[in-house]
Formats: sequence, C-alpha cells, structure tokens
Amino acid sequence: MPSIEEKLAKSLTAESTDLIPYLPYLLQDLWELGSSPNDMIHLISENIDVNETTRVLDLACGKGAVSIHIAEKFGCRVKGIDIMSDFIEVARQKSREYGVQSLCEYLTGDINESVIFEKNHDIVILGAVGDVLGNQLETLVKLSATIKREGYVLLDDGYARSQSEKPYLTKEKWLEVIRQSGFELVADQSVSDAELSSVLDEQMECLARRTSELMDSYPEKAGLFEQYLKSQMSECAELENDILGVTMLLKKVK
Ligand SMILES: C[S@@+](CC[C@H](N)C(=O)[O-])C[C@H]1O[C@@H](n2cnc3c(N)ncnc32)[C@H](O)[C@@H]1O
Repeated sequence: MPSIEEKLAKSLTAESTDLIPYLPYLLQDLWELGSSPNDMIHLISENIDVNETTRVLDLACGKGAVSIHIAEKFGCRVKGIDIMSDFIEVARQKSREYGVQSLCEYLTGDINESVIFEKNHDIVILGAVGDVLGNQLETLVKLSATIKREGYVLLDDGYARSQSEKPYLTKEKWLEVIRQSGFELVADQSVSDAELSSVLDEQMECLARRTSELMDSYPEKAGLFEQYLKSQMSECAELENDILGVTMLLKKVK
C-alpha cells in the first residue's frame, strides 16, 4: 500500500518522494496547481444557491487558487487543508492580497484525517488530487461524510476516453460509482483542448526553467529532476490523448 508521501509525490506528478523537498521551488511560479477556478465557479453559479452562510471545504487545496476565488466571488466562508506547509503559507498570503482573509482559513494537515472530523459543510472540493483518499468509490464515500444532507461535491478528475485507461474510469463507470456512493451527477464541465494545451504549455515552460536551475545548483541530483520533467511531459500527453479532464458537480442524495 503506498505511503502518504508516495501519494503526495504522485499527486504532484513526481515519481520519487526524494523530490518532495524541491516541489515548492519547482512550483513557485504557479498559483493554480490543477483545477480551474473558473470551471468550479461556473458550476457553482449555475447550480447552487450560495450565500455568506455557505461553508466550503477545499481538501488538498494547494495554494488556495480555487477557494480564494470562490470566497471573493460569493462572499462565503472557505476552509482549505493541504499537507504542504509552504503551499498553505502562500494561500494565506494570497487571501490577504485578495482581501478575503476574514473569510478564509488555511491549515496544514493530511486530508485522510480531515475527512474523519470535518462535518456539516455545504460544499466539499477535491481538485486534481488523484487517489490520495483511495479509489473513486472510497473517495466519494469519505467526501460524503464531510457534507450535509443534500450537500455538494466538486471533483476535478478525468473520464477515460476508453475502457483500457485504468485506473481512470469512463464516464459510464463514473456514473455507476456516483450512484453507489449516494450521489447524483448534477453537471460536468470538461476542459477544451485549446485551453488545456495553452495552460499546459505555460506550465511546462515554468517547470523546465526551474528544473534546469535546480540541476545547476545540485548536479548530483540531475537524474531526479530530469525524471520529474519527463513525468510532467507524459502526464500532459495523457491529458491530451487518453483522458478528458473534467470537473463534476455531485449532489448527495442518500
Ligand atoms: C495537483 S495539486 C492540486 C491542488 C489544488 N487542489 C488545485 O487544484 O490547485 C495536489 C495537492 O494535493 C496535496 N496533497 C497530496 N496528498 C495530500 C494529503 N495526504 N493531505 C493533504 N494534501 C495532500 C498536495 O500537497 C497538492 O497541493
């Protein structure tokens, strides 16, 4: 069974846990680490009646890009939790920059523990986090425990374009898992190919520059950094060819 560190590394497309100490440096130019705040906001605006009493939980929130935009747009309270303390520090700074610090709470922690004691939220977000909470069914069951009856989950994951892209599920298989875990799919929003490729190009450019700086500073670890860049490239190829990146809005019905 993979350890918390192995899953953390994988959630940020690193193959080795040896890379974890270097991730804040490598990702310093990026605020958004996975999910699109615009897609999440669009799904909320179209489907949920949000006001200042709404409580939003952002699990594995990274640097808070999604939850800060949500607090800014809807004036609701958000709580973000991430295991990387450097990311939480950036999230706190950004919440001050955007003038929403009184609405935002950011904490360092392991979301495997948060899902046990966090309760009664109206919306829980899990954006581009992979299998940190287990497989798809286990993940939805754990998320369900953190929200009220008739609460919502915003999940950024992917639909496999064919049955063979395991561990990804096709949309058909996702619908089965969603039903089994007591949810219904309210809406989903996929990333357009043009938008995806421009975001990925921009991210790859930043990562390539930071990787090469680290190779200069730590030549003895060049192999580790080179491998990271390769993993990033193969994830981009996967996202462009085998998997359709999608944000799902689910409503708890049981
Ligand atoms: C690809 S990033 C997505 C971040 C954010 N949700 C977003 O979309 O911008 C994955 C995040 O999962 C976090 N993570 C991985 N394992 C975790 C754990 N066990 N507990 C809390 N956070 C975790 C990482 O630190 C990282 O910030």
